Amino acid sequence: MGFRETISKLEKQEKLLKISKPVSKKLEASGILKAVEPRPVLFEKIKESKFRVAGNVFPTKETVADYFGCKVNELIPVITKAIENRAKPEEVKKAPSQEAEMEKIDLDELPMLFHCANDGGNYISSGVVVSKSPEYGQNLDFHRCMQIGKNKFTVRIVRERNFDTFIKKQGEMPMAVCVGNGAEILVAAATSVEIGINELEIANALKPIRVVKAKTFDAFVPADCEFVLEGIIREKDRQDEGPFVDLTETQDIVRKEPVFEVKKITHRKDAIWQALLPGALEHKILMGMPREPTIYKKVNEAGIKCLDVNVSPGGCSWLHARVKIDKQNEEDGKTAIKAAFEGHKSCKHIFILDKDIDIYDSENVEWAMATRFQADVDFVMKDKEKGSSLDPSANPENHFTTKCGFDCTKSLVAKGKNYSKTEFPKVDLDKYLGKEKKAKK
Ligand SMILES: Cc1cc2nc3c(=O)[nH]c(=O)nc-3n(C[C@H](O)[C@H](O)[C@H](O)COP(=O)(O)O)c2cc1C
Repeated sequence: MGFRETISKLEKQEKLLKISKPVSKKLEASGILKAVEPRPVLFEKIKESKFRVAGNVFPTKETVADYFGCKVNELIPVITKAIENRAKPEEVKKAPSQEAEMEKIDLDELPMLFHCANDGGNYISSGVVVSKSPEYGQNLDFHRCMQIGKNKFTVRIVRERNFDTFIKKQGEMPMAVCVGNGAEILVAAATSVEIGINELEIANALKPIRVVKAKTFDAFVPADCEFVLEGIIREKDRQDEGPFVDLTETQDIVRKEPVFEVKKITHRKDAIWQALLPGALEHKILMGMPREPTIYKKVNEAGIKCLDVNVSPGGCSWLHARVKIDKQNEEDGKTAIKAAFEGHKSCKHIFILDKDIDIYDSENVEWAMATRFQADVDFVMKDKEKGSSLDPSANPENHFTTKCGFDCTKSLVAKGKNYSKTEFPKVDLDKYLGKEKKAKK
């Protein structure tokens, strides 16, 4: 199963919103996707392009879990297992992603969305980038690309990550942007693993995939994606990238970023472009979800029984983590805070919660904080350190930020009132309401 099979499945399940009226890629498609989020949409007619567009395809953990054939609470072990037991994908000679080729490179012919009024241009926001280094082999990650001409993009590259290392070492190198992927490739591309690990092998461990040799350089690209844009990126050739909405739903600044010159575009014959709204639910799920296994692992390694982790959308699925533990010792909460920061270096606030708290229910988490947390003993504040470049309140020059943790677990021994919610008696409503209850329905 891949991107288009998921769209077909959603259609069969009558979950897909199909829009047959012509829609513009400029400010219309993005507005519709946002208005109906998390409902998946297929735009059958884009005014400026012959290709169709689909968006909101994997906007919740439920949709990702369904794709992997697991339950939501199994996603952490499923992703952990795939990172640890990577497997080489099947290599094929002929691939749907190379079925057709654009005769001349004209990026205006692609249905790349112009998302919000102040954006710097049309953007690829769902593209996973395949790159290769002689030293480390293949790498896969996300890089948004802003169109700056008929055949050029500027590519946003967060510093000090693997792709940044690749381009700094090579100066200029070939790369491919692959659009229209299933959740295994999207999730694998979003993991942050050791340099030298080919994330396509993580994808293949999540769900078997096929790969094919790129047309213009010696690397493998997904065989079943919808579009592959191949070309050269040059470290020294920098132009403006942005503004663009980032994960925090605020507008990111304009930076000088490397230019990617497109040399070849292959695609499926009836290719469907994958839209991914910046800062929206799907972006958040893909960013936060791969950090949950790393936090989970570090907390367990610190000797605390971690039961679950939610890098919650309210915290931009990046800056906040809720960690559920089975508390055995008074110090467990603080130990878990320290370990959780190790598991997600860009996180700003960590909340440690007991096993009776629903970490997906913000009211329940707030209740735990209100009733179990005392700032003088349960609050951990770290010295200023480098945090996320996404945080609008961090120092804009060096991204220094103040990170802290909230131990919202109850004391093992109640000093005053009991910490648990008192249960009301369970009654059989039918016995008392009868008709009135039925009338309400
Ligand atoms: C939807 C989405 C969009 C992203 N956009 C960018 C981006 O534009 N630039 C970037 O450097 N990282 C971006 N990221 C984060 C990278 O994919 C992330 O840094 C990557 O997991 C690190 O890969 P590495 O382990 O190969 O360094 C994005 C992630 C997601 C899920």
